[in-house]
Amino acid sequence: MSEMKIDILTLFPETVSAVLHESIIGRAAKKGTVEINCVQIRDYTENKQNQVDDYPYGGGWGCVMMAQPLKSCLDAVMAAAEGKRSRVIYLSPQGRPYTQETARRLQRDYDHLVLVCGHYEGVDERFIEQCVDEELSLGDFVLTGGEIAAMAVADSVCRLVPGVLSDEQCYIGESHWDGLLEYPQYTRPEVWEGREVPEILLCGDHEKVESWRRREQFRRTKEKRPDLFERFVPANEEDRKLCDEVKKEKERAALTEPVTCRRATAEDLGEIARIVDEARASLKKLRVDQWQGPYPAAEHFLLDIERGECFVVLHGGEIGAFFTLSVREEPSYDAITDGKWTEGIASAVLHRGAVAAKYRGSGMAQKMMRFVDERALALGLRCIRTDTHKKNKPMQRLLRESGYRYRGNLDIGDVEPGHDSARQAYEKIIKVKR
Ligand SMILES: C[S@@+](CC[C@H](N)C(=O)[O-])C[C@H]1O[C@@H](n2cnc3c(N)ncnc32)[C@H](O)[C@@H]1O
Repeated sequence: MSEMKIDILTLFPETVSAVLHESIIGRAAKKGTVEINCVQIRDYTENKQNQVDDYPYGGGWGCVMMAQPLKSCLDAVMAAAEGKRSRVIYLSPQGRPYTQETARRLQRDYDHLVLVCGHYEGVDERFIEQCVDEELSLGDFVLTGGEIAAMAVADSVCRLVPGVLSDEQCYIGESHWDGLLEYPQYTRPEVWEGREVPEILLCGDHEKVESWRRREQFRRTKEKRPDLFERFVPANEEDRKLCDEVKKEKERAALTEPVTCRRATAEDLGEIARIVDEARASLKKLRVDQWQGPYPAAEHFLLDIERGECFVVLHGGEIGAFFTLSVREEPSYDAITDGKWTEGIASAVLHRGAVAAKYRGSGMAQKMMRFVDERALALGLRCIRTDTHKKNKPMQRLLRESGYRYRGNLDIGDVEPGHDSARQAYEKIIKVKR
């Protein structure tokens, strides 16, 4: 016996059956996990012409489906489903909007659904009053017939029946399962038309991937369906925290163009200074005592540029981020405490990086970190070291997501006189694919 029987009452049984007996649902029907019957309403007429519709009382445009053939058809399918938990549903633009929650309820509470498809101007109201348990709508628009809506309901309910999909994980976490949209998905190749797969998905750390995906669920729900985001009630502390963080994030600029990286020139100084000012203001808001004095100033960047160590990251010709990657020794890094650097490996040092405010949360920071890796590898170095303030949580998160590990503590001395000189040390060893 099937786990779910669905009878679709329609004037177009062949068409509906052909669609529903394809692919995943078709295979489930073949296995007997679900049973889908498309029943011809016309076979139940009691008039010689097999007429299923007639003119509306009171006049008006079009024809209305008669109650009798519908009722006789319904009686036949109900008789064949005795003892089942049945639900009769009329697909109608006047019904309650159909949602994933409804699909879950129908799969959970019933093992027999009768989906009645209207046509023409609809069906005689007395049939609805007498025989229908609920009306469902596919959306606020009008279709020619209920078949497309019935197929949508049948498909979405059947894929929740145990055994139809290979694992329940296939639908848990999908869009609308718990009120959020799904995270973005990627498959091969790693770079397609200049667009890269987010690096975190290649790191092999399951926990990090899961945490990134959950954050993306919040971000894209906020972006694409603010109505759902507003209604979402976090069920645990972790979700509550993520939800609050994402609420505070500014609107994201979408990366619609390929993102590129080149060496900075003196002409970029104005734009770099503007991004530094934005970063300075943001750090101040976060109460991070970093970049709160004149450092970093034009003179530092000019020197970086002269040494060929400063890079800008561009989106459609616009500078979205910058960073400095140096191969020179960083004396303050020698006195690491509470931990140690990886020994016996030459390293590059990542200094002075920031993302323009409009690109925060867009993925620009992650792209920048990939370019940092690329530049280090181009220099023949697999190890990158950097430091950040203990209160600079966004930077710490970015570093961790980009494959950096906390290594200990540092004191950067008088780089920013009069300000907190304590820093956390981070290091990344780039995995090189063979
Ligand atoms: C042209 S419609 C009839 C619309 C009807 N006269 C009204 O204004 O409410 C014909 C049939 O298509 C189906 N239908 C149309 N829009 C639908 C929707 N948004 N959701 C579900 N079924 C729909 C219903 O079964 C309906 O009986």
